[in-house]
Amino acid sequence: MKCNVIISPSFLDELYYAGKTIVVIDVLRASNTIITALNNGAKEIVPVASIEFAVKVSGGMFGGQTLLGGERNTKKIDGFALGNSPGEYSKEIIYGKSIVFFTTNGSRAIAKAKFSENLFICSFSNLAAIAKQLAKLNLDFEILCAGRNNSFSLEDSICAGKLILYMQELDQNLELTDSSNACLALNKSFGKDILKMLKNCDHGKLLIENGFEEDLITCSKVNNTKVVPFFRENVVKLMPNKYSS
Ligand code: MLT
Repeated sequence: MKCNVIISPSFLDELYYAGKTIVVIDVLRASNTIITALNNGAKEIVPVASIEFAVKVSGGMFGGQTLLGGERNTKKIDGFALGNSPGEYSKEIIYGKSIVFFTTNGSRAIAKAKFSENLFICSFSNLAAIAKQLAKLNLDFEILCAGRNNSFSLEDSICAGKLILYMQELDQNLELTDSSNACLALNKSFGKDILKMLKNCDHGKLLIENGFEEDLITCSKVNNTKVVPFFRENVVKLMPNKYSS
């Protein structure tokens, strides 16, 4: 298997992803929000690339069974039911619902990679489950870091580095590109204390400033779930256990 890391979605267009196996990482916070929502029984997440499209899509779906969720500049969008804090996506609120989801970087990265053959969503919380799934597929794969405002983000690259470490355990011959090696090195330098790293990275500092420090604790947890969110036919759902275990 060969692994490449794309450090920001801004460098490549949608057609690049056609036919590929892609893992999208947005540690702060879209990946964790999606994982939490699906873990708590959301029917599906519909990731979209603009607020306007979110409103349009939700208008075409069945009322009551659809919620709008996401953020702009880290804060809940006017008219949306939910923001982008994983803690908001409790069973009581989202069970059985379709969530139309817009976030500045995460949902847009997923939408950009929509032509992938296999598309998974990963954060620190489901690294082992995603690695197991990739090993089972036994295909070359690319990790797409959502990054921040069309640029690099430390937390996504470190999470990519950790995923590569897991994959190296499962495939001793894993071939790495330059960006994959760079993520491994970043993880070695900054990945020992994840919460500390999240508190000190650019986006973590902004989230603290805006009152979301609690989310950093949630997003720092490693392997506390086995869920494998996968994207197919415009929605993200849970990979059924019979395929993921
Ligand atoms: C994003 O997708 O840009 C993030 O999840 C932003 C956030 O922290 O809400």
